[in-house]
Amino acid sequence: MNERRIVVSRRRSTRLLLAFGAILAVFAVLIFASPSSFVAQVSSMDQQSLPNNLPHPNPGGKAATFSTDGEVNLTGEYFQAQGTNGRSCVSCHIPEEAWSINPGTLQDLFDQTGGTHPVFNTLDANNPEMDVSTPAARLAAYSMLLSRGVFRRGGQPRANSEWELIAVDDPHGWANLGRLVHWRRVMPTINFKQGSTTVNWDGGNSVATGQEDGLKNQAARNITGAQQGLPATPEVIADIVRFEKSLSTAQLIVPGVGRLDSDGARGGPEELSKMPETPITGGRFDLFDAWINHSNPRRAQIARGQEIFNNKRNANNRTCNGCHNSPNNGTNVGNALFDIQTASFDARPDDFPLYTFRNRTTGEIRQLTDAGRGNITGLWSDLGKFKTPTLRALSARAPYFHNGIAPTLTDVVLHYEKHLGFALTDQERADLVAFLNAL
Ligand code: HEC
Ligand code: HEC
Repeated sequence: MNERRIVVSRRRSTRLLLAFGAILAVFAVLIFASPSSFVAQVSSMDQQSLPNNLPHPNPGGKAATFSTDGEVNLTGEYFQAQGTNGRSCVSCHIPEEAWSINPGTLQDLFDQTGGTHPVFNTLDANNPEMDVSTPAARLAAYSMLLSRGVFRRGGQPRANSEWELIAVDDPHGWANLGRLVHWRRVMPTINFKQGSTTVNWDGGNSVATGQEDGLKNQAARNITGAQQGLPATPEVIADIVRFEKSLSTAQLIVPGVGRLDSDGARGGPEELSKMPETPITGGRFDLFDAWINHSNPRRAQIARGQEIFNNKRNANNRTCNGCHNSPNNGTNVGNALFDIQTASFDARPDDFPLYTFRNRTTGEIRQLTDAGRGNITGLWSDLGKFKTPTLRALSARAPYFHNGIAPTLTDVVLHYEKHLGFALTDQERADLVAFLNAL
C-alpha cells in the first residue's frame, strides 16, 4: 500500500467512524427520549423540576404528580445521595412510576449499566454472598429485584414473641432460623395527606407520635441502612419529609375515557391534593359519581366499578372500601393492618422463602412467606398482616401487593376472589378493574 492509499483509507475509516458515531448518537437520542429511560435522566438530575400534572405513560394510560410547591422540585435532599453507596431516595422511588419502581425499569437500568447502577447493591441481592463480579453473575444475583421488583428486607425473628420460628426453606439460601428474609415492593411516597400513620408494609417504622414522625423515622433509617450513610441532620430529614408530604399522585388520563377530572369527575392528582385530610371515620370513594350512567360507556363502566368497590360484600360481609376506607385514597383511617393471604402458603411463588411458625401456647402452626406485622409486635394474630396501602396511581406501579405476586390489576381482583371470598361475574371484575385503573 503506497502513501496515498493509506491516506485515502484513513479518510475512509474516519468517514466510517463518523457515520457510526452519527448512528450511535441517533440511538442515544432515541433511548434517552423514550419514557423508560427518562428515569435515568431524573435520577441523574439532568432536570431541575417537573411541572405539576405532567403526564407519565403507564400501561393503563397516564399518571401525574401534583405538588403543593407549585412544581415538583428535583433538587432537594430527597434527590441527593446521603450515604456512601450512591443511592438516594429517588434511586428506588421514581416520579414516573408513582414514586415506586417497577421491574421493567430495574431491568432497563441493569442493561444500561451492566448492573452497576447504585440501585444494585448486595444489600438487595438474592443472597449477599453471591458473586457480583460480572454482568452475568449480577443478573443471577439480582433476579428477585429484576423479575419481581422486590427488595430484600427482614432481620432477626423478634425475641419474646408469642410464636417461635421452627423451620425455614429459603430457595436463595440466606434466611435461617435466626434470620428472616422479607421480599418487599417499594411503597409509593405519595398521598400522605389522606394517608394513615402506618409507615412501611409491616408498620415497622410507625411511631406513636404520628405520621410526620413516622416518615422522619423512615427517612433516617433509610439513610443509615439502604444508603449506608452516617445519621443525617434534622434539617436533611425535615426537607425530605416536607417534600414527600407535598406530593399527590394519581392516574390522570385513560385512553377512550379522557381526563379523569373532566365532566364532573374528580380523578387526577390536583383534585386529590385539594381533598380534606384523613377523617376519623372512613368514607366511600365518590370520584366518579358524576359518571354514573354516563353516555360514554367507558366512563359509565368506571362509575360502576366504583360502586362495586364501595358496596360489593364478600363471604365475611366485608367490602373493598371497608378496609380501604380513607375516602378517595384507600389507606385505613384506623391504621388497621390486615391479613389478606398475600403471604400465605397457597399464594407462595417458588422463589420465595417459606417460614413455619408455631404458637408457643397452643402449638398451632402457620406457614408464611413473610411474618408481616407479626415480627414487629411478636403477636400470633399479627402474623401475615400488612398495611392497607394507598390505591392511587396503581397503573403506574405494577406488580401489586407487598411481594409483587399480582402482575396486573386483574390478578389483584382474582386474588380477592380466590382467597378472600369475593364472588364476581366477568362483567363485575372488568368494571372493578376499570375503576382501579382510573385511580
Ligand atoms: C434501596 C431502595 C430504597 C431506597 C434508596 C429508599 N427506599 Fe423507601 N422504600 C423502599 C422499600 C423496599 C420500601 C418498603 C419497605 C417495607 O415496607 O419493608 C420503602 C418504603 C418507604 C416508605 C413507606 C411508605 C408508606 O406508605 O408506608 C417511605 C415513606 C419511604 N420508603 C421513604 C423513603 C425515603 C425518604 C428515602 C430516602 C431517604 C427512601 N425511601 C429510600 C425502598 C427504598
Ligand atoms: C380485609 C381488608 C381488605 C379488603 C376487604 C380489601 N383489601 Fe385490598 N388490601 C388490603 C391490604 C392489607 C393490602 C396490602 C396487602 C399486601 O400487600 O400484602 C391490600 C392491597 C390492595 C391492592 C394492592 C396495592 C398495592 O400497592 O400493591 C389493591 C389494588 C387492593 N388492595 C384492592 C382491593 C379491592 C379491589 C378490594 C375488594 C375486592 C380489596 N382491596 C379488599 C386490605 C383489604
